Amino acid sequence: MRLDCGPCIVRDWARSDKASLVRHANNRNIWRNLTHRFAYPYKDEHADAWFAMLEGMPEPTHWAIELGGEAVGAIGCMLGEGVYKRTAQFGYWLGEAYWGRGIMTAAVKAVVPYAMERFGLARLESPVFEWNPASMRVLEKCGFAREAVLRASVSKDGELIDSVLYAFIDKTRH
Ligand SMILES: CC(C)(COP(=O)(O)OP(=O)(O)OC[C@H]1O[C@@H](n2cnc3c(N)ncnc32)[C@H](O)[C@@H]1OP(=O)(O)O)[C@@H](O)C(=O)NCCC(=O)NCCS
Repeated sequence: MRLDCGPCIVRDWARSDKASLVRHANNRNIWRNLTHRFAYPYKDEHADAWFAMLEGMPEPTHWAIELGGEAVGAIGCMLGEGVYKRTAQFGYWLGEAYWGRGIMTAAVKAVVPYAMERFGLARLESPVFEWNPASMRVLEKCGFAREAVLRASVSKDGELIDSVLYAFIDKTRH
């Protein structure tokens, strides 16, 4: 998989991305906005587990964001099962050095139609922590709707906080 997003490329992960993955992922400001599945400090062993997880999937649903030939972020989804088979949880992160340049907006705009088509999805959803207006803005710029405030739904960094549920819907494949 390889998508030209304009300012960045979204493509499959490779084991050779390990050093850049660890360098960019090992960041408290990224960790603070992601679920417990993302480690801090982010070490080689976490990258190894990430690659092993991807290699165990029938087809990867997570991809690298590449800038200047280097993997500097991640974007992808977790597919639902059973009655949730047309729903996926959508998420992303970008190395802090590259924030504020429109890169994630470009990546999300490219990946959303690709993932929905590829996996036959009708709905992508992203719960955003209450202290993360930049991510809410990215989703709003990409056509996600703010659906709900999930009060006291998240324990993170020693605090009990709200999350805001954003979703993108496309029923055309039904
Ligand atoms: C959230 C994140 C992906 C944004 O990536 P990015 O490439 O910097 O995003 P973009 O530059 O495309 O867009 C950011 C938007 O947020 C806005 N923004 C940034 N900080 C903001 C703030 N404190 N309040 C309001 N808006 C803010 C920017 O102005 C921009 O909007 P604009 O184009 O209308 O001006 C990046 O900061 C990141 O990886 N954060 C840590 C991980 C994370 O939060 N992942 C998402 C979990 S839901």
